[in-house]
Amino acid sequence: MDLLLRRGNLVLESGIAAADLLIRGETIARIAPSLDSATLSPGTRVIDCAGLLVFPGFIDAHTHFGLGEGAGCTADGFYEGSAAAALGGVTTFIDFADQIPGKTLLQGAEIRIGEAADAVVDFALHQGVYQFHKGIGEELDELARAGVTALKIFTTYKNFGVFLDPGAWESLFSLCSERHLLVAIHAEDDEIIEKIAEALPPMSQSAPGPGMHPFLRPARAEASAIMKTGLVALRHQLPLYFVHVSSAAGMESVRDLRRRGLKVIAETTPHYLLLTEERLAGEDGPLFLMTPPLRSPADRSALLEALASGEIDVVATDHCSYTPEQKKASADCRAIPAGIPGTGEAASLLFTLLPGDIEDKAKALAALFSRNPARIFGLSPKKGSLEVGTDADIAIFDPAASGIISKASIRTAAGYSPYEGLAYRGAPVMTILRGWVIAERGTFTGRRGSGRVLACGESGIFERHQGD
Ligand code: URP
Ligand code: ZN
Ligand code: ZN
Repeated sequence: MDLLLRRGNLVLESGIAAADLLIRGETIARIAPSLDSATLSPGTRVIDCAGLLVFPGFIDAHTHFGLGEGAGCTADGFYEGSAAAALGGVTTFIDFADQIPGKTLLQGAEIRIGEAADAVVDFALHQGVYQFHKGIGEELDELARAGVTALKIFTTYKNFGVFLDPGAWESLFSLCSERHLLVAIHAEDDEIIEKIAEALPPMSQSAPGPGMHPFLRPARAEASAIMKTGLVALRHQLPLYFVHVSSAAGMESVRDLRRRGLKVIAETTPHYLLLTEERLAGEDGPLFLMTPPLRSPADRSALLEALASGEIDVVATDHCSYTPEQKKASADCRAIPAGIPGTGEAASLLFTLLPGDIEDKAKALAALFSRNPARIFGLSPKKGSLEVGTDADIAIFDPAASGIISKASIRTAAGYSPYEGLAYRGAPVMTILRGWVIAERGTFTGRRGSGRVLACGESGIFERHQGD
């Protein structure tokens, strides 16, 4: 059945255009100021979009669905997490695959793709690299041919076995530069974190609570790791993507590297834009614990300014949900599972906090939460824009819908929202994935497993411009 989105306000790169948009099968078939009803196929479903914004489907470029095992596994697996995302207008998410000892990188990615079989929206993967070895170049080639063109490295988390030794950065970055592979980095300087941890009494004697987490993982650790990795990348002219930049100091390092001529993509998350470290106090403190930790109000203001000035390229949620029982099982911040839910609330919250009038907000939201991640991760033109011939992934959004975020109105197996009680203005009312309505007015209407794995092309960040 064709779908006609009648009289919507299409959010295009150039601005808002009032137009009709016809979906045939999985793609956008026509866009015109007014499509003649006589030309429609019999049975076309007409959706009145008057007064509504029609966005390209949102892309949550940083999620952790089905992370971990057994009692330590995230509350939202791929089905629950992606259904929550769908209700928030998200039609593509990007998760990550582990490098598994004894397996090639591609084998690791294939295992993860198998785990994601229940996803209800489309998805792509970054591939984690935790061990460098001779011959990894061929593995990278194989991976890229299979459509995984971004890697993920961690400059910390030795305890989880994902820390990549700094001695390997140079060689890995050289290989990635030759192959035009994007490297996404969780940047926290482990030396700084270890020094602070060494000064604490042993685990058994006293437990630093959630309120101590920002002290144990300070903003200067983020700033330092961004600079250290960036200076190595500069020698190879390798663009870098920093995930979840959380602090003013982290943004300063991003600026410093850009001034030195490195292409740097900065991602931040709704939680660093909306919440601060005060939340870590009290009984519910564990529910607000993620890594890097929530920061000071001054950090939050600095990030809001960076967002307004266009220095932040992508907002993604880092959705990594645990139940209150899991979060509160230990009083020691080092043992509390790190991460919070939020993929379903992101679009509303971002639209609310972005500055300007409705058109300014809509343009910025489309860029930060759809077009930029699509380009950066090699998913455009199929994803990230409203153009004839591209996937009909659409979020229909009511800019006047208002309310308060509450447990009752969000979906996550975690059973809570860290944004509970925050007011929003603007909310998704319908989500369309490749021509299928998968969420409508708060009800998930999609099917388990309706998401497809996406083959990513080369990141748009490597594009040569005239004069380069
Ligand atoms: O606390 C977080 N962010 N958990 C997910 C893993 C990560 O570092 O992004
Ligand atoms: Zn991280
Ligand atoms: Zn993450």
